[in-house]
Amino acid sequence: MHRRGFLAAGLATVLVSRRAAAQMKMDNMPGMGGHAGHDMGAAPQGAAALPEGEALPEGEALRELRLLANEANTPGLLKAKLTAEPAIARYAEGIDTPILGYNGMSPGPLIEATEGDRVEITFANRIPDAASTIHWHGMPVPADQDGNPMDPVAAGSERSYSFDLPEGSAGPYWYHPHPHGKTAEQVYRGLAGVFLVKPKADPIPAEYGDTVLVFTDLRLAADGTMPDSTMVDLMNGRVGDHVLVNGQKNPALTVPFGTRRRFRLYNATNARFLRLSFDGAPMTIIGTDGGLLEAPVAADDILLSPAERLELVVSFDKPGPATLYTLDYDRGWMGAGRPADTGLTLLTVNVSETPAEPVPPLPEKLRSIAQLDSPTVNRRFVFTETMTMGATDMEMGFLINGAAFDMNRVDIVAKAGEIELWEIVNKADMDHPLHVHGTQFQVVERERDGQVSKAPYLAWKDTVNVARGETVRLLLRQERPGPRMYHCHILEHEQLGMMGIVDVQA
Ligand code: C2O
Ligand code: CU
Ligand code: CU
Repeated sequence: MHRRGFLAAGLATVLVSRRAAAQMKMDNMPGMGGHAGHDMGAAPQGAAALPEGEALPEGEALRELRLLANEANTPGLLKAKLTAEPAIARYAEGIDTPILGYNGMSPGPLIEATEGDRVEITFANRIPDAASTIHWHGMPVPADQDGNPMDPVAAGSERSYSFDLPEGSAGPYWYHPHPHGKTAEQVYRGLAGVFLVKPKADPIPAEYGDTVLVFTDLRLAADGTMPDSTMVDLMNGRVGDHVLVNGQKNPALTVPFGTRRRFRLYNATNARFLRLSFDGAPMTIIGTDGGLLEAPVAADDILLSPAERLELVVSFDKPGPATLYTLDYDRGWMGAGRPADTGLTLLTVNVSETPAEPVPPLPEKLRSIAQLDSPTVNRRFVFTETMTMGATDMEMGFLINGAAFDMNRVDIVAKAGEIELWEIVNKADMDHPLHVHGTQFQVVERERDGQVSKAPYLAWKDTVNVARGETVRLLLRQERPGPRMYHCHILEHEQLGMMGIVDVQA
């Protein structure tokens, strides 16, 4: 069947392929509550499915993320334990939600280290019946320490991850599971946390503070459990009903007027695109996925696609509320149920009449970034979505260069230290944020309908949105040998095939 015609026919008539059905049938985890009997098509998107009179509380004081305790007493060493396990969260009064947490928490504990440090983290997988891993998203760690799907940690077992953080690696990274076929579910059920690598000397004035804002996306059924994913979720990526900040809905922060605040924004949702602005407070971008820019850049609005991060300095110069809210962004949606995602208030900053102590200005130069240049290898990756009639039913796939992910296949071979030009061509009907493991890259330009636009600033990134119909060119160099994943960070698309392996050879 022609795909357009198929789409027009509406998703209600779709026969779920056996592959997708198997993926939708989530494990009935002991201790995860009795959600086995949920209607898979329940929970209309854009509306909370909580019972009448129940809503997620808003306006509570913004919680800071709990710091992961360092068990080592040696300077330069971070030694700690992370356990992935079932836990109970209380998002609304009187309603218990079974989740997966790191050390019982979602978002997981905040990991803080300094460039040059050694990190040794023991990971215990206490998720009943499911393998897991910890992937250190964006971090320059050896391939065999990076939590690849090829290195699963079986349910009930442990392993340790150790790596050294190179000088110059300061940045806003994060960690999440990456087991084969299970990443999307483990992340939406709660497993994701922040890993901040701090520089030895920070050019951003300490008076600006350092506030992490992690966005996650929650869908709750009437009984407080998280419903399993539907066919629509698998196609578009699972979007929830509530965007949370550090686990809270629209929390509040009070600051004196004249405050300048440093925020680190994390899109840790499975599939939600966040186009954001602060109403009544000017934003300046100071950093991206891989750390600081060379110089601050003023911004009216920002787009954070799934897995991207941005660092901002926001000036609160007017007494009264300043809200962080979502603007319209069309990332392409298949079928019905496009979520309401415009005009959501994510965070309210109450700017008081009391003036702040004067603070130093933001430096004009933050650091220098060596520009990658003169690639010796050119590669092209074409993203497509397919729907084909299988032997008995409809099969859908998200493909890179015509192939779905195969854990036993190396897609490309690269050489450590060589600069490559990657051209990502999105021929699909949805945006797909490309992420590459093990390194940071530099976006050169975007092309759409023959129009080329250069990247607005030089920056280190590990995730870049490739809008539908767009081509993105980027420069990249892998320094460490071993197999690395590259994939769409809409985690359901990763699961349905939009991932490949680059084997980096020494
Ligand atoms: Cu956030 Cu393959 O990773
Ligand atoms: Cu990653
Ligand atoms: Cu995708």
